[in-house]
Amino acid sequence: MNTEKIVVVGSFNIDMVVRADKLPAPGETILGNDFFMNSGGKGANQVVAVSRLGKEKPVFIAKIGNDLLGKNAMEVLRAENINTGYVFIDPEIPTGVALITVDKQGENSIVVASGANARLCIEDIDKAKDIIEKSDIVLLQLETPIETVEYVAKLAYRSGSKVILNPAPMRNIPDSLLKYLYAIVPNRIEAEMLSGITIVDSNSACAAADAISRKGVKNVIITMGGSGAFVKCDGIFLHISAEKREAIDTTAAGDTFCGAFCVGISEGLSVTDAVKMANTAAGISVTRKGAQSSIPYRKEVRI
Ligand code: RIB
Repeated sequence: MNTEKIVVVGSFNIDMVVRADKLPAPGETILGNDFFMNSGGKGANQVVAVSRLGKEKPVFIAKIGNDLLGKNAMEVLRAENINTGYVFIDPEIPTGVALITVDKQGENSIVVASGANARLCIEDIDKAKDIIEKSDIVLLQLETPIETVEYVAKLAYRSGSKVILNPAPMRNIPDSLLKYLYAIVPNRIEAEMLSGITIVDSNSACAAADAISRKGVKNVIITMGGSGAFVKCDGIFLHISAEKREAIDTTAAGDTFCGAFCVGISEGLSVTDAVKMANTAAGISVTRKGAQSSIPYRKEVRI
């Protein structure tokens, strides 16, 4: 298996980022510091991570607008050695945009105007059916319509590929979707929403992972930022800690983790070893600014 057979289906956004001392409270206006624009979108960040960390060209299935941001998106993705043959262009709706604030601790808050991402539909997926059916791994998130996500998951599952879902941003996930998954990779908040269990320590993290896996998902990996990840795989619970890092911007750390995890699995690593590789890659990303600009290359990640 190699990354030529990894297909990522998801969003592309242009991120408009302001760094500020703190995140604004509701109704509050604050003065920020520097502003920059950067390529983002959970799907695009994850496929860039796969491309930079893996050995072959991954496929990206997405929808952008017929505008300057969309044109720029294509150039960025091609320069990243990504197969853009299934990046569709919507004639009417603009490319997705994300407004991001990052505080002094590197924490962020993000609002996405989905634009063309919300138009990625089942007819588009049918055009990419062949490549999905031949894939080894399909990686999904929730910034595109849930019906499309479920349709891809079912198609990929039935043709024997491993379906991995990063349930971000969290929405109502039908149980029918969960049964197609080889692995789910929520962060702490998403895991709490999925399981109904508040995570305060390792016991509650294990209980949440257990509750999610009982819905029919084989492997559950809860990412916990600087504390690493809680994993339930093959009926066993594990806490895989991460190296301590000084975080300056956590944007796309989860995306880097998911991309790296897929590369690890595609190269035959165990779930535990793929999580270790993903922890390392995500740890590097938080030491850098921005989304795609923060994702490390293979030579930087020890395996
Ligand atoms: O996960 C980070 C990403 O979320 C950003 O790049 C932004 O575009 C939103 O999709």
